[in-house]
Order: sequence, then structure tokens, then C-alpha cells
Amino acid sequence: MLILGIETSCDETAAAVIRDMKGSPSVLSNVVSSQIKLHAKWGGVVPNLAAREHLKNILPVIDEAIQKASVSPEDIDLIAVTRGPGLIPALFIGTQEAKTLSYLWEKPLIGVHHIEGHIYANFISDKVRASIKSQISNLKQFQNSKPENPEQKANEAKKLTKLKSPIEFPTLCLVVSGGHTQLVLMKDHLKYEVVGTTLDDAAGEAFDKVARILNLGYPGGPEIARVATRDTRHSTFDAKFPRPMIDSGDFNFSFSGLKTAVLYFTKKNESLLKNKEFVAGTAAEFQQAVIDVLSQKTIAAAQKYKVKTVMLAGGVSANEELRRQLGEKIKIRLPDTAYILPPISYSLDNAAMIAAAGYFRWVKMTQKNKDDLKNNWKTLEADASLELG
Ligand code: KG4
Ligand code: ZN
Repeated sequence: MLILGIETSCDETAAAVIRDMKGSPSVLSNVVSSQIKLHAKWGGVVPNLAAREHLKNILPVIDEAIQKASVSPEDIDLIAVTRGPGLIPALFIGTQEAKTLSYLWEKPLIGVHHIEGHIYANFISDKVRASIKSQISNLKQFQNSKPENPEQKANEAKKLTKLKSPIEFPTLCLVVSGGHTQLVLMKDHLKYEVVGTTLDDAAGEAFDKVARILNLGYPGGPEIARVATRDTRHSTFDAKFPRPMIDSGDFNFSFSGLKTAVLYFTKKNESLLKNKEFVAGTAAEFQQAVIDVLSQKTIAAAQKYKVKTVMLAGGVSANEELRRQLGEKIKIRLPDTAYILPPISYSLDNAAMIAAAGYFRWVKMTQKNKDDLKNNWKTLEADASLELG
């Protein structure tokens, strides 16, 4: 089965083609056209500019995804598009395009929640791919082996045809993006319970705002990560910021006070903003404060809900220090829990993750629901504040 994914919720125009590989998604192409340069001079995403760029890029991007996958439109079995949440003028371009293609090509169309896409990026992780690959190779070896007892062999083969993902439920996913900071408990595919959320700014938003305070570029996350090397944290300027809500006893977050602490600290030391060591030390201490809170709450929630897997999702999950430090803590404190990371290219906004989520929705549907998706182009609408579920 082939799935075309389309994503335009923010400032990336993205299209991808994935193939299901015996129940697991494998990426054939993943094209992302970023508008970062366009928005950087405004210090953030301008919705109408984003929509104009999406409109310009959407067809070439879809075309490239199909070409790179070496497939043709007739081969596509399902179109999956981000329906929300996001910027409405931006979402509108992707959904309109997906609806038009669904109508023209007579293909079923499914709307996907952007965060569900981020979560399902984990199902195209390196670990998952390696596990599926080795299971396929075992299966092939088994099939080629001499039949000792044909009946037993047939039974074993039956068992082996269902490949097992290393992601076992219940799973806890730390979702950290520009708009979301959530701990999402999943007891099964597509079953979400938000057990913690931010009370104010999202983690990515805090990175972006602090980068602006420190006169770093946009988007702020990669800029902070670039200057915040480990050895710069204990600089002579000794920035020390709070770890908001770290001992609150629940799984909620708050990053607005941390951002204000950085603002006051830099205001007090305004003359040092041109000093590279000062900026690097402040960025590193801010990043560490965010990582400490995110890691501690994730571990506590994983313990409380006795999960078998912890996953990371969203743009901030591209942060190498967060990936490394959370992994180390899990190894020590939850040695029996699997730790799954999406590859960095699938951490940031992309359409492979949207296609993957669409695929997992599709396989759970009844034939009637699948048939209904052929008419979905008539009614599917973008929804800026779509809820996960
Ligand atoms: O998921 P995403 O690409 O878009 C949304 O759905 O919001 O996330 C974008 C966010 C931005 O706030 C960006 O600064 C942050 O992810 N980000 C990072 C890193 N790369 C992107 N934050 C921290 N470290 C990074 N390396
Ligand atoms: Zn995103």
C-alpha cells in the first residue's frame, strides 16, 4: 500500500510517499520546502506570507515526492493531509490541494492531527526499522529452511508473518513542539490520554522567545542548541535559572517564568549581550533548565503509568542534549523501558509522519469507513484548533 502525505500547518511545505512494509511504514520520499529564511526577518511566522509560499510550492513539492519515490499517481492508495492544528491560511492550502487530488485521482482522503503525525514519526524510527528488517530476514531464512515437520512449519510461518514493532504499549510520548508541550499516554494505537500539559508557553515557544532575548536567529531552538555547548554552561557569568514546577507533583509544565528569568538576567547584564561567552552560558543554562524539567516529569509519569516505551515527538525532540540526557536517565532509572526516538529529519515538521499516522488510522478502519474516505474531499475542512483524539 502507498500513502501520499501532505503537510502545510506552519512554515514548511511538505510531501512524502510511504509504503507499508508488512504493517510498518517505510519512507520512499520525504520532501520539505522550508520558509525559514522568509519568516526570519520578521522574527516569527507570518500566516499570510506562509500561505502564499505554500501555494507557490505545494504542487512542485508533491510532484517531487512522487518522482523521488518512483511511483505514479495511479499507484497511490491513500492521501493523508494535516487538518490541524496550525495556522488556518497555511492549513487551508494543504487541505485544498489534498481534496483536489483526491477528487481528480479518485483516491481516499484522510485528515490527520499534526501532533498525531509527530507521535507516529516514532514508528518510522531507526530502531523500529532495524527490528522489522531483522524479523523479515529471520522470516526469509525460516521460509527457505528444509521442511522437517511441514505442519509445524506452517504454524510457525503463520506466527512469523505478523511483524512485531519494538514499540510496546502502554507508551508515554513527550510531545515538545512550537505549539505543544504534552505528556501523552497511549494504551494502544490512536488512543491518547494527555496526562500533562503546559500551563503557558510551549517548550519550543520558550526556546524561540529566549533566542530573541539573546539576539539569536529564528527559529530559536536550533540557535540556542548551537551556541549552548556543554562546556559553556558554567561560564564566569554564572547564569542560574529556576526549574519551574519541577516538584509540583503533577505532570504539567510552565515555561513563561523561566523565559522572564532569562529576560531579567540579560537586562541586568545588557552590556554583555555582545559577549559570546555570556550568550552561550545563558543559552546553555536555559536549555538545561528546560531539559531538567522535561526529563524529570517524563520519568515520573513513565513510572506512575508503568509504561513499556518512552518516545519523543515534535520539533524540540531534534535537540541533541534532550535526546541524550533523557536517554541516560531512562537507562538508569527505567532499565526495562524502551526509549524510541524519531530520526531528526522526522522530528521537525514533515509529511512522512502525516502519511504514517494516516496509515495507522487506515488499518484500524472498517471497509465501510475506508469506502467513505473516497467522498471525504467533499467535506474535509482545516481546523486550526483540532483536538487530539
Ligand atoms: O514541530 P515543529 O517543527 O513545529 C510545530 O509543530 O510547532 O517545532 C518547531 C519548534 C520551534 O519552536 C523550534 O525552535 C523548535 O521546534 N526546535 C528546537 C530544535 N529544533 C527545532 N528546539 C530545541 N532544540 C532544537 N534543536
Ligand atoms: Zn510540528
